Amino acid sequence: MNEKIKKICCIGAGYVGGPTMAIMAEKCKTIQFTVVDIDELRIKNWNEENLDLLPVYEPGLDKIVLRNRGVNLFFSTNIEKAICGADIIFIAVNTPIKTEGLGAGEASDLTWIEACARDIGKYAKNHTIVVEKSTIPVKTAQIVSQILNIESLQKNNQAASNKTFSVLSNPEFLAEGTAISDLLNPDRVIIGGEDQNAIKTLVEIYKKWVPQNKIITTNIWSSELSKLVANAFLAQRISSINSISAICEATGANVQDVSRAIGSDSRIGDKFLQSGPGFGGSCFKKDILNLIYLSKSYGLIDVAEYWEQVLKINYWQQNRIYELVVKKLFGNLKGKKISFLGFSFKSNTNDTRESPAINIARKLISEGAILNIHDPKVNESQINKALNSLKINNQSFKKWHFHKDVYETFNESSAIIILTEWNEFKDIKWVEVIKKMIQPAWIFDTRSLINGEQASNIGFKYWGVGNDN
Ligand code: UDX
Ligand code: ADP
Repeated sequence: MNEKIKKICCIGAGYVGGPTMAIMAEKCKTIQFTVVDIDELRIKNWNEENLDLLPVYEPGLDKIVLRNRGVNLFFSTNIEKAICGADIIFIAVNTPIKTEGLGAGEASDLTWIEACARDIGKYAKNHTIVVEKSTIPVKTAQIVSQILNIESLQKNNQAASNKTFSVLSNPEFLAEGTAISDLLNPDRVIIGGEDQNAIKTLVEIYKKWVPQNKIITTNIWSSELSKLVANAFLAQRISSINSISAICEATGANVQDVSRAIGSDSRIGDKFLQSGPGFGGSCFKKDILNLIYLSKSYGLIDVAEYWEQVLKINYWQQNRIYELVVKKLFGNLKGKKISFLGFSFKSNTNDTRESPAINIARKLISEGAILNIHDPKVNESQINKALNSLKINNQSFKKWHFHKDVYETFNESSAIIILTEWNEFKDIKWVEVIKKMIQPAWIFDTRSLINGEQASNIGFKYWGVGNDN
């Protein structure tokens, strides 16, 4: 371990910053880690004694936070103090897609990255290694470097003369729900940059728990691009299998059997072939949009159109499911109750960003349905934010109810839609459930979670994605 590294700061205490620093603190006991955020409530919750209140739900995270918090892991809102004492600063802030202006709908909004870079430029002392962790567009390092230098050279900045920075790219590949094992046993760690000493310093930190042959060093642009491409390829597989799910339904094939058959070809591999309601999460859509924007900005229009199709199929799958529900319920949803099982974009996370459940819920509500929603980890205020901020026909109205008890969602319901593959949904006593529902009682299983044959035997009408026999 490089003995010079005593303090590391991470700006952004979200789904990336929190778990990543918790694991680093666990593995590098001689370094002090401070995770800072402008969001006071978030930091308060990271410091909560009651671990159920941690802002990020991630299996295994609570124990790691408990073991290291107050020892060499700290959560704080004092950004200036954390920056000025740090040898290495990770940037893990949000980078959503721009909603207005140049590149709106495709390019990432770098407002938060810029604010961070300005803070670092202002408060850092001596030599600081700045590491990009957030998902960012290619060439962001260049922008970060420029801002760091501009800020540090402000006339009234006394310590400017001996301030220097090395910017590295070290994209995060953790998937929510499996973040802890992904961080502990990564397939690879990518570090991109120009300053070989800075790269070496970061490699030494990772070597504490990652075998050296899994640490790939490269130039900064390849590193930034690799993150976008990895996510684009994964998303592409999901859109591919979702497109096949419709062919399976039309022909009587079974998409799970097809997935198994093609996945056993070692050249294809069996991961990311699970058909569902479409991909969600904060990364896939954003990264593909970034790739599209990048392609267009280099005049690669056919390339941009190729990747656009991956997103198009993702929307199409969500719409297809919504339309199917309407058709099966006699083309009319007015006043009908629909039970929504799951709201997070996948299981084992409380994250709802880009969850297919949001789009499907919104469309069903616009048809007049009343949704009874249950999710084991998503809370009511998150659903409120996701649905009530969306105006339908220019009106805000509440046509949904949140139920902590899953069995309460089924009262007088006409249909159940399984949107998230939570394990606990497998234990639901369907024999009891059907008694509470209005006939014909439908189950739309967008995750192939339950046994369709058993559901039909109980008396349900069952539709499973890619398996409509
Ligand atoms: C993803 C990448 O996996 C991770 O490497 C990157 O750092 C961040 O983006 P994440 O968004 O957390 O991680 O979840 P992931 O497991 O990749 O799932 C994304 C979406 O695809 C989810 O909505 C999931 O339900 C869906 N999915 C995944 C499928 O529909 N089918 C599959 O076979 C796999
Ligand atoms: P991710 O999934 O990439 O971790 P999140 O939205 O979960 O994204 O977390 C990003 C965090 O970064 C948020 O908690 C946000 O408040 C924080 N943040 C954004 N800009 C700044 C900033 N300039 N300084 C400190 N924290 C910031």
